[in-house]
Amino acid sequence: MKKIISVVGARPNFMKIAPIHRAFQKYKEEINHLICHTGQHYDERMSKIFFDDLELPKPDFYLGVGSGSHAEQTGAIMIEFEKVLLKENPDLIIVVGDVNSTIACSLTASKLLLPTVHVEAGLRSFDRKMPEEINRILTDTIAKYLFVTEKSGIINLKNEGISEDKVFFVGNVMIDSLIHFLPKTMTSKILDQLKIETKNYVLVTLHRPSNVDEKENLISLVNLLNNISLKRKVVFPIHPRTKNNLDAFGILSSLNPDVILTDPIGYIDFITLIKNCELILTDSGGIQEESTYLGVQCITIRTTTERPVTVDIGTNQLVGDDYIKAEQVAIEVLNGKRKQGKIPEKWDGKTAERIAEIISYKLL
Ligand code: UD1
Repeated sequence: MKKIISVVGARPNFMKIAPIHRAFQKYKEEINHLICHTGQHYDERMSKIFFDDLELPKPDFYLGVGSGSHAEQTGAIMIEFEKVLLKENPDLIIVVGDVNSTIACSLTASKLLLPTVHVEAGLRSFDRKMPEEINRILTDTIAKYLFVTEKSGIINLKNEGISEDKVFFVGNVMIDSLIHFLPKTMTSKILDQLKIETKNYVLVTLHRPSNVDEKENLISLVNLLNNISLKRKVVFPIHPRTKNNLDAFGILSSLNPDVILTDPIGYIDFITLIKNCELILTDSGGIQEESTYLGVQCITIRTTTERPVTVDIGTNQLVGDDYIKAEQVAIEVLNGKRKQGKIPEKWDGKTAERIAEIISYKLL
């Protein structure tokens, strides 16, 4: 029996590991698939609600590291994860995405000479001021096998001199979760709860340090949301980082009443909100992909994207950190100037099956 440990830490990891865990159930006789939660995200609404919604089992290991500076958080995860690896001696470690848990666990594994698979490899924003970019580059350098979501990833890895036989173009596990759970959105009551109607509201998520850590940017964002709320209701499920900063700078109360603020929202309710909105304003990575799959208009308030396929063929538009431009483009979209999009190659709901098959037949 082979043993695999998959790592989750922060909110966007849970929907990536859920389909992988499901896919490994087919190989139960040969593979024991275990889940380690680092505890990078720990609030019920940032973590447990996703385990419930995504039908994930309770993690086999919980490291409980919590928040801290980058070094504190990364270091604490490494210290705790090393104990798990020494005790369990797995045959393979799977990490996903680009959060601090991703690099911390792959680095720990590589120091113990244990092989790591990186799912969602090769994405590059080419902006090294983003902590995620550093996490992506380092993880791809030390992982033994790399699973790629879009063709830009193959090119980026090649340009970095990474050998082609480590790289597998498999598609997008986050889209697997979306496809699997879309039918459940029919049971969600979130539109009624928020008193909003299909295709008649704008959904907003913002949490990147570049948008929400400086007072000046936050004031511009509040102005942007207030102006858009004159046209449509705005739904803003607010990330703890953003809420803490709005509070600290004393500007939370400047938002118009038509900007509906909510706590972070669980997976099924959130994909219901994406599916039914008229437009999304975001700085998230995953939401650029989910909106492209669903053909929903998306404006990304960032200067770069590591997911260029969502702009090249999807419904995503990158407006930079220019909040005036964001407002102009948003108003154009609300006035009917919609971007047509297509679904990227291999975003078909079967990525995790491909990953499990490659791992069990070729890599173990
Ligand atoms: C992390 C990821 C980011 C990802 C995001 C998704 C890194 C470097 N960043 O950013 O790539 O897009 O998750 O949400 O890994 N907090 C809580 N409760 C929680 C978790 C966090 O209140 O359950 C607060 C704490 O004040 C913490 C702050 O949010 O200091 C930031 O959390 P952290 O995990 O450091 O980074 P995120 O901004 O969530």
